[in-house]
Amino acid sequence: MRILGIETSCDETAASVLEDGRLLSNVVQSQAIHGGFGGVVPEIASRAHIKAIVPIMREALRDAGADLESIDAVAVTLGPGLIGALIVGVSFVKSLCFATGKPVVGVDHVEAHVSATHLSFGEIGEPFLSLVASGGHTHLFLVEDGLKMSLVGATRDDAAGEAFDKVARMLGLPYPGGPEIDRAAEAGRPDAIDFPRPVIDKAYDFSFSGLKTAVRYYVDGLEGRVSPGMLSDIAASFQEAVVDVLVHKTISAAAAVSAGTISAVGGVASNSRLRARLEEAGREAGLRVLLPPPEFCTDNGAIIAEAGYLMMKAGGRTDLSASPYSTRLYERVNIA
Ligand SMILES: Nc1ncnc2c1ncn2[C@@H]1O[C@H](COP(=O)(O)OP(=O)(O)OP(=O)(O)O)[C@@H](O)[C@H]1O
Ligand SMILES: [Mg+2]
Repeated sequence: MRILGIETSCDETAASVLEDGRLLSNVVQSQAIHGGFGGVVPEIASRAHIKAIVPIMREALRDAGADLESIDAVAVTLGPGLIGALIVGVSFVKSLCFATGKPVVGVDHVEAHVSATHLSFGEIGEPFLSLVASGGHTHLFLVEDGLKMSLVGATRDDAAGEAFDKVARMLGLPYPGGPEIDRAAEAGRPDAIDFPRPVIDKAYDFSFSGLKTAVRYYVDGLEGRVSPGMLSDIAASFQEAVVDVLVHKTISAAAAVSAGTISAVGGVASNSRLRARLEEAGREAGLRVLLPPPEFCTDNGAIIAEAGYLMMKAGGRTDLSASPYSTRLYERVNIA
């Protein structure tokens, strides 16, 4: 089965062709224009998707050596995300499928992030715990039978990626801030500043706004005198605090749901320190640790096609009245 995957939920226009779980092409165009605004401007994102969507799809087909006729189904992100951006991808795919008679598979973007695990490692063969840490989500899911997901924990306020982006902005680093902090932290000391580790009562939920505020007070206290060495120390110490919490909660949640395998996905899962610490902590806890390569962690069309493939294998189809959605509440699993 050959699936075309289309992604437009935020500031990446992406298309990919996947054949029976095997990647034939993966084209991602990131909208650099938002850099100058310090964050994604929704209307600019929608306009940029309109411009890019046909050329990006054509490029993905060309890279795959495929034509539209040879595609069996088209998967598209329905949500969550920026509604105007989603409308571009969903309307485009619906029109394409209306004209060609091909089936549409509407995909949840967060489920698609999780499916980077299957895309990278094939059938997992057992229930696993997945940390989704991205620009809009910090969620822990128990994943069973393909893509059946139950929520184990979630952020109460900022997502991890959002905290990275906001702290980067305080330090005068450009958007997106996560990769900038990751790079700046290489030269810094992770124990230079003792930022709080926000471990809130509810065992597997997260909170990052207090940590962000602590960095804000620290930076304000420097009154603009931030040397490059200090900047690296702040970046490394902030990153260490986020990573401590993400690693601690992921490992303990895996034990709570008796999962022997964990994965980490979403843009923040491309963070070099998080990857190293999860590998180490997972090994110590006797867990199998699955970390998809960074290009499958940030937004792309391949994870959309993979999620569509897993849904179709489970008999899922979407009709042409499917609508995009900006947010979604995931079903929680009760943990004793
Ligand atoms: N190396 C890194 N270290 C930390 N954060 C990173 C790194 N690379 C990317 N990020 C962060 O990942 C986020 C983008 O990830 P992704 O593309 O998955 O999110 P999104 O699609 O905007 O949000 P969502 O998937 O929740 O809708 C940004 O906040 C970015 O700063
Ligand atoms: Mg995303």
